Amino acid sequence: MSFITEFNQHVQDKNLEGVVDTLKTLPERVTVKLNEYNPLPPTKPARICIELTNRCNLNCPFCLVGQQNLQESVAHDDLNREAGGMDMDLCRKIIADAKKFGIKEILLTFQGEPLMFKRQNFIELVKLSKANGLKTIVFTNGLLLDPVFSRAIVKAGLDVMRFSVDGATQEIYELNRVGGKFEKVRTNMKDMVQIVKEEKSKLQLIWQFIALKNNEHQIEFAEKIAEEIGIPFLIKTFAESIPALVPENPAYHRKYLSKTCHDIYKSIWVYWNGDVVPCCYDLDGKEILGNINQNTIEEIWDGEKYKNLRKRVNEALIHPENEPELCKGCLKYAPPEKLGIDPAAAKLKSYLQQPFLK
Ligand SMILES: C[S@@+](CC[C@H](N)C(=O)[O-])C[C@H]1O[C@@H](n2cnc3c(N)ncnc32)[C@H](O)[C@@H]1O
Ligand code: SF4
Repeated sequence: MSFITEFNQHVQDKNLEGVVDTLKTLPERVTVKLNEYNPLPPTKPARICIELTNRCNLNCPFCLVGQQNLQESVAHDDLNREAGGMDMDLCRKIIADAKKFGIKEILLTFQGEPLMFKRQNFIELVKLSKANGLKTIVFTNGLLLDPVFSRAIVKAGLDVMRFSVDGATQEIYELNRVGGKFEKVRTNMKDMVQIVKEEKSKLQLIWQFIALKNNEHQIEFAEKIAEEIGIPFLIKTFAESIPALVPENPAYHRKYLSKTCHDIYKSIWVYWNGDVVPCCYDLDGKEILGNINQNTIEEIWDGEKYKNLRKRVNEALIHPENEPELCKGCLKYAPPEKLGIDPAAAKLKSYLQQPFLK
């Protein structure tokens, strides 16, 4: 029965107790109704991101994997969890779960270099993702490609490939992509463009260039090379993990968003061993919310651990003492004070959002 009908009924019956009881249900009913028309966060992620391996062939200094080349060891062994690769059975389960849950796309990238995954498994994974209706995306340093592998990837039906290339000459490129060869990746991008044409593929290619202090002067030059190759060029802002690498030009600075974070509603992140974390900045398992070997994606997403995490994130401005450690130093969402926003106004906005956030 609707609220109005129920209320009128009690009034007609002169049932004062009934009127009071009905009035008491009003806040909950309004919340339920608002959630039905909720313009804010969705109840399931649109994207799943999986770490095929957390190993890498490079040692980029800014990489959140562990800023390896600042360490004595460059063996990728100082990450606070084991190095490894995802089991193919787990990959298959993730894809089946994702389809069942209504997830729309899969990013075959988290930490590490995804093209270090066994080639035939990578190809199988792309095919399987596509067969299950998932838009399939990969971010790569692009160095491990060759024409045979590239053609196989194109034929498997990959939708997006983003090349991470942060320099336009060997001298600058190798400062950021330590261990990489610029000429090799330039050739690989060029070959890929050609193969996409030959195969009449819809694969979308992107050259992603993180603007840094040491390479910002090369951006125009890099754009010219991209044009020659025929690959779209994208400038990515730097998540300021190393202050000395922040570019001079403010146009390239990352614009922080105001807390509270909505990213936790958009995507879900899976380590190679099946552990689920809420965000790409959780590098060493600060907030493990479940494991896909033991539960479905849906069970983990709707589980108590995830709900509790979301509550703590949603209330970050109201109860900062409960904010997850992971979020305190976020490189994307900042507190109002840092953004010059009135903290009281931000807190009020956060209160008003509460009924929409689950
Ligand atoms: C961790 S990498 C893994 C994939 C692959 N090895 C690569 O380099 O593309 C994922 C993405 O994060 C980007 N990335 C790493 N550290 C970053 C930072 N501090 N700021 C912005 N993007 C960053 C990389 O350029 C890449 O596009
Ligand atoms: S290539 Fe990617 S994963 Fe490897 S060190 Fe560089 S940014 Fe990190």
